[in-house]
Amino acid sequence: MTAGTALNEIILAEPRGFCAGVDRAIEIVERAIAKFGAPIYVRHEIVHNTYVVNELKAKGAIFIEELDEVPPGATLVFSAHGVSKAVENEARARGFSIFDATCPLVTKVHVEVAKLAREGYEFIMIGHKGHPEVEGTMGQLSSGIHLVEDVADVARVQPAQTDKLAVVTQTTLSVDDAAEIAAAVRARFPKVREPKQQDICYATQNRQDAVKLLSPQVDVVIVVGSPTSSNSNRLRELAERLGTTAYMVDSAAELQPAWFEGRARVGLTAGASAPEVLVAEVIERIKALGAVSVRSLPGVEEHLKFPLPKGLKLDDQPPP
Ligand code: F3S
Repeated sequence: MTAGTALNEIILAEPRGFCAGVDRAIEIVERAIAKFGAPIYVRHEIVHNTYVVNELKAKGAIFIEELDEVPPGATLVFSAHGVSKAVENEARARGFSIFDATCPLVTKVHVEVAKLAREGYEFIMIGHKGHPEVEGTMGQLSSGIHLVEDVADVARVQPAQTDKLAVVTQTTLSVDDAAEIAAAVRARFPKVREPKQQDICYATQNRQDAVKLLSPQVDVVIVVGSPTSSNSNRLRELAERLGTTAYMVDSAAELQPAWFEGRARVGLTAGASAPEVLVAEVIERIKALGAVSVRSLPGVEEHLKFPLPKGLKLDDQPPP
């Protein structure tokens, strides 16, 4: 909107950065290391952020993808994205001491899938193929859950029956894309059961709403987030859709001076797995490139905090 003028102002989206599920997941790993000593094994990146993963590695976490990489008797943490029943059962059969850092809002989807499956429902899952949350949610059942990634997939999906069909979604989708895909599901399967509230979580919704407010007020949007972070990618895409050039960076070092040439106002946000320390470094770098002021846009205040699993206080007993 003010292209052609010199870099001047940084405007911060509110809310941005860590959500309650990410806070909890990181605290679980840190407490497990403090209580049981390093190493603590973590299945998959605890949250999709390079900085967070490297910090926890330095403290004694070992990140693995396959359970046969974990030695017998070890302590194992499941990542915030959740795991399939097969992974959970295998980990229990191998006798690991397990702490589940699955976000409670993902667990809620797993519980709903299990409950409706017992009532005879089949599922259409809206999500991104290969994302660990999608693998975990689809893996709550051995069959009867069909993935759709876009509206075109909805026309192709072939449930065995359509009387008892329910929709579930990944928690970190584009709110607008998910609504469009859900509408296509409803049009094709009018009896489909939808969750009372979307499975898309409060943090995803709030961060996308904040970018909708921010984008029209700035000349470029910077999203702090790692390439693997679904919700961070959605924030960058959303800003672009709203007509504002947007870049995603894993750290301040990735910022390119050319992005700010002729742009007066920079909008800054961060995905739910990106720590505020990286936002602070990005602010300093943009200031070094010429920005003189920083202000926040008013936004929703978040106060949610999830309880930790049992067994992580220093005087708690370890899990069975
Ligand atoms: Fe949970 Fe949403 Fe964060 S599902 S981990 S609160 S992005």
